[in-house]
Amino acid sequence: MASIDRIKDRIVVGVSGGIAAYKSAVLVSRLVQFGHRVSVVMTPKATEFVGAATFAALTGSGPVVDPFDSRFPLGPHIELAQDCKLLVIAPATARMIASCALGLANDLLSTLYLNVECPVLFAPAMSAPMWGKPAVQRNIQQLKSDGVHLVGPESGWLSCRRIGFGRMSEPESILEACKPWLE
Ligand SMILES: Cc1cc2nc3c(=O)[nH]c(=O)nc-3n(C[C@H](O)[C@H](O)[C@H](O)COP(=O)(O)O)c2cc1C
Repeated sequence: MASIDRIKDRIVVGVSGGIAAYKSAVLVSRLVQFGHRVSVVMTPKATEFVGAATFAALTGSGPVVDPFDSRFPLGPHIELAQDCKLLVIAPATARMIASCALGLANDLLSTLYLNVECPVLFAPAMSAPMWGKPAVQRNIQQLKSDGVHLVGPESGWLSCRRIGFGRMSEPESILEACKPWLE
């Protein structure tokens, strides 16, 4: 596959492994329609929820899953960060939130999180009990004090078939939250 061009205003959408990953395809499509250049980083678990082919078709370039992807001789965590204007992590799973809050760098997306110098926007998505857990809330507080931006989660229908807090914000709301850095 041809290497991804160096671009001035890359937006990276990081997709972690929650059911709301299907909504991230709409987010990516909207960003592309608005003329943004979008690269997608998926966790291996995210590929269980949405196929890489979907993001490849929407962005014109295969999503990056492997931290040793040979398209990026310096490492995708370095090359994708170089011209990244905004990193949006949607959905942000409880595990991804924890990994970023702790600075674990134990997968490509959390390593990229540590390496970017641009604003980072998290769109958490999880069940209501998960969202309510002290451990998750501690990690959210840590991320906030680290300077990240959050959109949602919201209250609504959850895939566990109950209504509660934890539903990922709709793509249009995430786009709205991105606006300060896109104009
Ligand atoms: C059907 C299904 C739905 C899931 N939805 C969520 C979710 O919305 N949020 C979440 O934090 N974890 C969810 N999980 C659990 C994550 O997939 C799991 O914690 C995984 O290790 C996350 O990996 P990642 O953060 O590397 O993508 C779900 C798991 C399954 C099987």
